[in-house]
Amino acid sequence: MIKTKTPSESLTTMTEMIFPNDTNTLGNLMGGNLMRLMDVVGAICAQKHSNRIVVTASVDNVSFKEPIPLGSVVTLQAKVTRAFSSSMEVVIDVWAENIPAQERVTTNKAFFTFVAVDQSGRPIDVPQTITETDEEKELYDGALRRRQLRLVLAGRMKPEEAVELRTLFEV
Ligand SMILES: CC(C)(COP(=O)(O)OP(=O)(O)OC[C@H]1O[C@@H](n2cnc3c(N)ncnc32)[C@H](O)[C@@H]1OP(=O)(O)O)[C@@H](O)C(=O)NCCC(=O)NCCS
Repeated sequence: MIKTKTPSESLTTMTEMIFPNDTNTLGNLMGGNLMRLMDVVGAICAQKHSNRIVVTASVDNVSFKEPIPLGSVVTLQAKVTRAFSSSMEVVIDVWAENIPAQERVTTNKAFFTFVAVDQSGRPIDVPQTITETDEEKELYDGALRRRQLRLVLAGRMKPEEAVELRTLFEV
């Protein structure tokens, strides 16, 4: 297995046009449809990093800042921020464009966690991440803190073991 990969090796971009079937009664993209697209682009990204089957383990807070109207062109970009043992944190940025009006709005950002599994669904190790840019380094550094927070919230880590979180709240 390859031992390391850069975030740019897993960079995945998906572009979709919003049609009537995708929208709610106000004519805007339904939140659940957007989350499905985020899950798909994130899973492809995690597959690129690990060259394995991946499953979604968790989704951090997803805020819907702006409605995405019918006819918009939505772009989702996913990148692995940091790999741990079998899990990978993926950041997904979403923006919407009205191409005729030449308008572009950032609509969402969320962190998803995917776990690489073998054919029996058991977690399996993935390549570690090597950062190349300052932005990637910042995301990489913050990933440990976010991991501890989500594992505490999922009841998989005791709060007293979340050392990164403790330093965050110390004054
Ligand atoms: C995710 C899954 C493979 C974890 O399996 P497990 O037997 O609990 O394995 P482990 O406890 O060894 O955890 C494996 C990794 O998952 C991570 N993980 C498990 N639950 C997590 C959660 N809620 N949030 C973030 N990471 C999580 C662990 O931190 C660990 O990461 P690491 O190997 O990088 O340290 C398993 O729970 C599963 O298959 N869940 C269903 C996935 C699914 O169907 N997704 C689609 C939902 S519709």
